[in-house]
Amino acid sequence: MAANGPATVAAILVAAGSGQRLGADLPKAFCTVAGRTLLEHATGRFTAHALVSTVVVVAPASHLDDAVRLTGVVVVTGGATRQESVAAGLAALGADADVVLVHDVARPFVPDSVIDAVIAAVVAGADGAVPVLPLHDTIRRIDAEGEFVEVVDRSTLVAVQTPQGFRAAALRAAHEAGRDRAVTDDAGLIEAIGGRVVAVPGADESFKITRPWDLTVAEAVAGG
Ligand code: C5P
Repeated sequence: MAANGPATVAAILVAAGSGQRLGADLPKAFCTVAGRTLLEHATGRFTAHALVSTVVVVAPASHLDDAVRLTGVVVVTGGATRQESVAAGLAALGADADVVLVHDVARPFVPDSVIDAVIAAVVAGADGAVPVLPLHDTIRRIDAEGEFVEVVDRSTLVAVQTPQGFRAAALRAAHEAGRDRAVTDDAGLIEAIGGRVVAVPGADESFKITRPWDLTVAEAVAGG
């Protein structure tokens, strides 16, 4: 972190997934809600944020030109896994970033308050910050046959959202060290090298678009 002045904040938006669970015939980031792609919705949240100075989009190789045309920001090609896509975004960032946010384009409606809280936690000294929400459903563990094993105490569980924010040097070191380990969240890579990751409040409207039903909800959110 720079000793003087405000932190320089960069955002990596990962959009290189296929979105197979959505059942669409194009990558999820290019599905449209209220007349705009998920990519445009999500990118707009970061380019419009007062504290974010650089935004890099990681897109599928098949849609690089579309991503540039739709967002006007730097676009790089994603990898076979989310982790590889984040690493590609990280490689495209300049050395001046103090704080790096990693956000799933599949969460197009992240509010400023969550972005603010993530940045503030890293600026305050954490290696990483993760937005979380409590779980409301009863959670049960099942075995391979689908038989119930136990009810899990949900008070000890949270659902994790993005953006996850990191001290840039910590994220680079974590990706370097974790190259051969597959994880679905970058905070896990930071913890694996002994970094301190803290939780900040997530937001309901920052839900992840995964299934067709989520697109129906997204239309309602975008129209409301
Ligand atoms: O598939 P899932 O929804 O869990 O992916 C989370 C995010 O990671 C999405 O925004 C997706 O575009 C991105 N991703 C990626 N490169 C991959 C796989 C997923 O950028 N190879």
